[in-house]
Amino acid sequence: MITTAIPAQQLRLSVAPMMDWTDSHCRVFHRLLSPNARLYSEMVHANAVIHGDRARLLAMDPIEHPVALQLGGSEPELLAQAARIGAEAGFDEINLNCGCPSDRVQAGRFGACLMREPALVAQSVAAMIAACDVPVTVKCRLGVDDDHEYARFRAFVDAIADAGCRMFVVHARNAWLKGLSPKENREVPPLRYDWAYRLKAERPDLQIVVNGGIAGAEEATSHLAHADGAMLGRAAYHDPYLLHRLDVAWFGGELRSRAELLRALRPYVESQLERGVFLKHITRHLLGLFGGERGGRAFRQILSEGAHRPGADWSLVERAIDVTESFSTPHAASAA
Ligand SMILES: Cc1cc2nc3c(=O)[nH]c(=O)nc-3n(C[C@H](O)[C@H](O)[C@H](O)COP(=O)(O)O)c2cc1C
Repeated sequence: MITTAIPAQQLRLSVAPMMDWTDSHCRVFHRLLSPNARLYSEMVHANAVIHGDRARLLAMDPIEHPVALQLGGSEPELLAQAARIGAEAGFDEINLNCGCPSDRVQAGRFGACLMREPALVAQSVAAMIAACDVPVTVKCRLGVDDDHEYARFRAFVDAIADAGCRMFVVHARNAWLKGLSPKENREVPPLRYDWAYRLKAERPDLQIVVNGGIAGAEEATSHLAHADGAMLGRAAYHDPYLLHRLDVAWFGGELRSRAELLRALRPYVESQLERGVFLKHITRHLLGLFGGERGGRAFRQILSEGAHRPGADWSLVERAIDVTESFSTPHAASAA
């Protein structure tokens, strides 16, 4: 069985799955900045989806669409069950993690070490496709440790494509399973975008999204000449306004100010506060919005210091925005 293709327009820009970062609050914020980006959840293990607190693990606001659930695991039956639950919960895509190098993940025999087990991944993907009616996709590396053969990487992709997967996110570097922390594994192994480009050229029917080290708008745009899309992780999280600039540049629409975009988050924040969510759990994702701007440090400081206080509410965010605006008034400019 072949999983359905994702509309090309929805693949051009995406925000990477990031544990502890891309929770539902973060994704809602990113959606307001970029109406067209495809968003990804944090990785959730299939067992947790099946046996854990689903209301929390699969939390998702309808504004987030299109949004993918990323699963971890390596047991086809469990992955199939979790994929079905994720699709029924409303996720638009189920993505299988074949790229995470952490020790915990290696001990569980999933994540990046699956790059060495193409037959098992193919079996898992086939089971997931049979179990749900949304696209099933894979996020992988180029290889692990000292795999330096392009043919081996392509054989991995081919095996999974034969099982019906049409879309691959390629984090375009190896994962080194021994001796590097997950953080180092996002920085040390060299990037080889040419492997992702070559894969797209040789397998034009597959949808290939390039990920890894994409730091700015020009760089992101350059990938579109060779692949179906660019996925941004850290750059999007630390400089979320980049998402807005890319969305406007690639899809059209008017460039809105940071303050205007942030104020659009107010109804969401207030509804979450009413449900008992603490402000700090939302504002932690907003800290980079004014990065590099005048008042950016004060914005960050006001939110980080104030959001954990009891009773903190939207007025704190408004105060932080006011500070940035005070820097741009003629009065502030002349006083500076
Ligand atoms: C804090 C953090 C958590 C991450 N968690 C995941 C994850 O759950 N699943 C995954 O596939 N990749 C995860 N990654 C890797 C990113 O998805 C991405 O592949 C990597 O950061 C490279 O892209 P970038 O250079 O644009 O950040 C994580 C990265 C970071 C920084």
